[in-house]
Amino acid sequence: MNQTFTNIPSLLTKTNHLPTPFFVIDEDKIENNLKVLQSVIKETDCKILLAQKAFSCFDFYPIISKYLSGTTASGLYEAQLAHEYFATNNKKVETAKNLPDYTDNTKATGCENHVFAPAFTDSDIQKIVKICSHIVFNSANQLNKHYDICKKNNVSISLRVNPQHSTQGGGETGNHSLYDPCAPLSRFGVKIDDTIWKDESLHEKLDGLHFHTLCQQGYSDLESTFKVFESSFGEFFSKLCKHKNNIGKTPYINLGGGHHITNGKLHEKKRGYQTDNGYNIERLIGLIEYIKQKYGCQVYLEPGEAVVLNSGYLVSSVLDIIDDKIMPIVILDTSAACHNPDILETKHDYMPPIYKASIALTSDLSSPNTCRLAGNSCLTGDIIGDYKFDKKLQISDKVVFGDMALYTIVKGNTFNGIPLPDIYKLSNNSITQIRKSDYIDFKSRLGK
Ligand SMILES: Cc1ncc(COP(=O)(O)O)c(C=O)c1O
Repeated sequence: MNQTFTNIPSLLTKTNHLPTPFFVIDEDKIENNLKVLQSVIKETDCKILLAQKAFSCFDFYPIISKYLSGTTASGLYEAQLAHEYFATNNKKVETAKNLPDYTDNTKATGCENHVFAPAFTDSDIQKIVKICSHIVFNSANQLNKHYDICKKNNVSISLRVNPQHSTQGGGETGNHSLYDPCAPLSRFGVKIDDTIWKDESLHEKLDGLHFHTLCQQGYSDLESTFKVFESSFGEFFSKLCKHKNNIGKTPYINLGGGHHITNGKLHEKKRGYQTDNGYNIERLIGLIEYIKQKYGCQVYLEPGEAVVLNSGYLVSSVLDIIDDKIMPIVILDTSAACHNPDILETKHDYMPPIYKASIALTSDLSSPNTCRLAGNSCLTGDIIGDYKFDKKLQISDKVVFGDMALYTIVKGNTFNGIPLPDIYKLSNNSITQIRKSDYIDFKSRLGK
C-alpha cells in the first residue's frame, strides 16, 4: 500500500459513527511534511511560505507557523486570514479580530504575509498595505500604480517575471498545461521583451524578483527554469542585488510553488501512479546555496501542496448502484463538481487515489469489481472516474479518497445545494470536528 493510505482501518473505526461525507486532516502527517521542509530551511537558511491557495484550514496554522516563515496569499481575503491566524507565537492576533479596521501590526505577529495577484484594486491595496509585509506585482502598470502607497507603508516590493520556459508538457509529471504559467499568452509575469526593463530606476524600486512556473514537479524542472531565468533576467537581478546590498538591505528571489519536496515518490502523469524517484532535496539545497552565494540574496519558496501532501482524506458512502452493461455506476454522497473540481478541470488527467482501489485499466473492464464512481449532482459529467476495487462495492460501503487536503476544501462549492463535507482534525490519535457544514453554507451566498 502506498504512503497515502497508512492507518485507514483505524481511522474508519474511529469515524464509523460520523455522517459522510467528511474530510479528515491528519496533523501528524502535516508535521512530517513540515519536518522535511525544515531540513531544507536548516541547511540553507532559505525561507519557506505556505501558499494558502492550496490549503487554508486555519486550525492548522499554529503547527505550520512553528516551521515556516509565513504565508503567501492570492489576494486580500487570504492575506486577512493569515493576518488573523498565522503567528509565530501561535496566538491569534487579537487586534485583527475587528477587521476591516486594518492596523499596521503585521510585524507584531513575527510572520511574513506575502501577496500576489494578477492585479489589485485600489480599495484592496489600501487594506493590503496595512497587513502584508511583501507584495508581488504582475506588471509595470500595477507596480507604477501602487508603488507609492506600498513604499509609504513599508511594504517590500517585488515583480513576478515569466521565464517562458514550459516544463509541464512531459518530463517528470506529464501534461499539466492548465497549470502552466509559461504557456503561450499567459497573463502571468513580466516577460523579457517588456518595456519595463528600460526603466533605469527599476532596480531601486524593487526589493526582489519572483517566478512561479511549476506544478507537482521534481528538482530538475526547477534547475532548468532557473538557468533560463538567469540567462534572461540574471544581469538585472545582479544589478538589483548589488544595489540593495550597497544600501544595507537584503534582496530576494522567490522561486514560487509547485516543488513536490515532500513527495518521497514523485507522481507520474496522474496523482495515484507513482515512480520510485523521490524529490532530490540535496540538489535543491545545492541550488539555493549557489543562488545565495552568487547574488547575495535571500531565497524564498512558497509551496502549497508540499506542505499538506498526503495529509487528508475524504470519506464518502455509496448511496446507490445503477446497473449498466458496461460497468456498474456507483452514486456517492460526494461530487467531483462540488468537492473535487480538479478532476473535471483537468478532464480526468488528475484522478484521486482511493483506498483499496486502483484506476481501472482497459484490461480491468471485465472485472466485476470495476465500476464508475459518480457524484450526486445533476451534472452529467460529474464523474469521478473508473476504478477497480479489491471487492465489489455495495450500497452503504465507505469509499475513502486520499491526498485530499490540497486544492479540495478551498475549492468546494454548493452547486445543486449539495452540502460541503464536514471537516475533522486527526491529531495524537484523536478526532475533533473543526467545521460542521449546514444549510446556511448554501443559502448565505444567495441572498440576505
Ligand atoms: C504564485 C503561486 N505561488 C505558489 C503556488 C503554490 O503551488 P503548489 O501548491 O503547487 O505548491 C501557486 C499555485 O498555483 C501559485 O500560483
